Amino acid sequence: MKRVAPGVGPKFPQVVVLFGATGDLARRKLVPGLFHLSSVGFIPGCRIIGVSLDDLDVDGFRIFARGAVDEFATRKVSEDAWTEFEQTLDYLPLSAGVDALKAAVARAEESLGGHSQRLHYLSVPPNAALSAVRMLGEADLVAGSKIIMEKPFGTNLESAIALNANLHEVFAEEQIFRIDHFLGKEPAQNILAFRFANGLFEPIWNRNFIDHVQIDVPEKLSLDHRAAFYEQTGAFRDMVVTHLLQIVAFMAMEPPTSLEPGPISEEKNKVFRCMLPIDPKDVVRGQYTGYRHEEGVDSESDTETFIALKCMIDNWRWAGVPFFLRTGKRLAEGMRIISIAFREPPKSMFPVGSGVGAEGPDHLTFDLADASKMSLSFYGKRPGPGMKLEKLSLQFAMHETGLIGDVLEAYERLILDAMRGDHTLFTTAEGIERLWEVSRPLLEAPPPVRLYPPGSWGPKSIHQLVAPHAWRLPFERAWRDPNVQGA
Ligand code: BG6
Repeated sequence: MKRVAPGVGPKFPQVVVLFGATGDLARRKLVPGLFHLSSVGFIPGCRIIGVSLDDLDVDGFRIFARGAVDEFATRKVSEDAWTEFEQTLDYLPLSAGVDALKAAVARAEESLGGHSQRLHYLSVPPNAALSAVRMLGEADLVAGSKIIMEKPFGTNLESAIALNANLHEVFAEEQIFRIDHFLGKEPAQNILAFRFANGLFEPIWNRNFIDHVQIDVPEKLSLDHRAAFYEQTGAFRDMVVTHLLQIVAFMAMEPPTSLEPGPISEEKNKVFRCMLPIDPKDVVRGQYTGYRHEEGVDSESDTETFIALKCMIDNWRWAGVPFFLRTGKRLAEGMRIISIAFREPPKSMFPVGSGVGAEGPDHLTFDLADASKMSLSFYGKRPGPGMKLEKLSLQFAMHETGLIGDVLEAYERLILDAMRGDHTLFTTAEGIERLWEVSRPLLEAPPPVRLYPPGSWGPKSIHQLVAPHAWRLPFERAWRDPNVQGA
C-alpha cells in the first residue's frame, strides 16, 4: 500500500535519465533512494532510464537495481512495491547513442501520459560530465528539464570556471542542481532550525562567546574500489572543498532574509567571500601507511588520504575564531561532528583541585549522522561535600523522538527537492568558484604528505595545528545511549 504524501513531492510525474546508472553511487544511494521515494508515494509516477558504459539490457539493469535495493535499502523492501518499481526501469548503454536516448525518453513520457517533467542525473566522473551534457543537448532533452550534477565541480578555479561556462552553453543556471549531499543530511538542515528558530543561541553565536569550531569527519572506510577516482581527487577535493566548507557556511552565515534559495545562497556566499585564502602552513596532509600498495594507486603517490586545516572567516562575527576541519580515510573511528567550543569564564573562584576547566571548555556538539544527536556540555557540581566540579551534558537524540522513520536519506531529500525545483540545499557556481579561489595557495604549494598508521587519528602534527586547543575527538565520554538505564 502506498503512503501518499501530498505536497512534499513534485506535482507531476518524473522521467529520470540516470547517467552512471551502474556506478557505485547509483548502487548505494540513487537506485535505493528512487525506489523509496517512488514506493512511499513521494513521486506521483516515475520512469527511470539508466544510462552507462555497461553493455546491459533492461533485464540486466533490473537485476542490478534489485541487488542494489537488497544490499543498500535502509527500510524493509516489499515485494509488491518492488514489482511495481521494476516496471518503471529502462536501460540504454551509452553506445546506443543520441537517437536511442531521445526515443527512450519519448517512450517513458508517453507511458506516463499527460504532463511529466524530466530530471537528468549525472552520476559520472568530471571528465564524462560534459559529454553527457552535450548528448542531452543533441537529443533535444534540455528545454524544461532539470539536471543534477555530482561533485567534484572542477579541480581548481580555472577548471571550475570552464566547467560552468561549458555547462551554461547548454543549461541555464536555474536548471542546474549541484549536489552536495552533506547539505541534504537532516542534521545539517537542523543547524538552520537550531540557529534561526530559537532566540537562545543566536545572541552567543559569534566571536565574543565562541572560542573555536571544529568540523571533524574521520572515516574508517578505505577506498572502496574507488582508487582511480581517489588518486586524482584526494581528501581535500573529495571532502573539504565540497562538504566540509558547505557545513562551515551553514554554521557561520548571517540570518538570511528568508528561507528561500536566493537569500540562503547569498548569505553562504558572503561567508565564502570573507574566508581567508588557506595558508599551506595551516594544513596537515596525510597518507595512511600502505596506501601506495593499494590496487590502482601509484607506488609514489602524493595523494592525501587525510587532511586537517585551519580556516578563518574574516568578518565582524568571526574574526579571530579558528575553524578547524579534519577528515580522512582509515582513521580510528567513523564520525561526523561539529563541535563549538565556548570561551571560558574570565576568572575562577573555585578552589584549586576543584576540577573547573580540567575537561576543556563548554561545548555544543552536533552529530551529523542521520540519527542526529546534539549535546551541550557544561561544568556542574558533583553531589556531596566540598566543591568538586565535573562535566555534565544535556543531550538530544533523534531516535528518542520516535520520528526516526521519517528521516529521508540525504540523496532522497535532495532528489525530491530538485524534482520540485527547489535550490535551497544546492550549491551555486559563484560559491564553488570562490571556494576554489581560497584553495589556490594550498593547491599551488601543498605541504608534503605525512604518513599515519591506519586506525589512528592522523599524522602527529595535527596536535600542533590546533594548539593550544585540542581535538575534540575521540570523545572523552561516549554519547549517552537512552536505551541503557542510567546512561
Ligand atoms: C562522498 C565522498 O562524497 O562522501 C566519500 O566521495 C565519502 O569519499 C562520503 O566517504 C561520506 O559521506 P557520508 O554521507 O557517508 O558521510
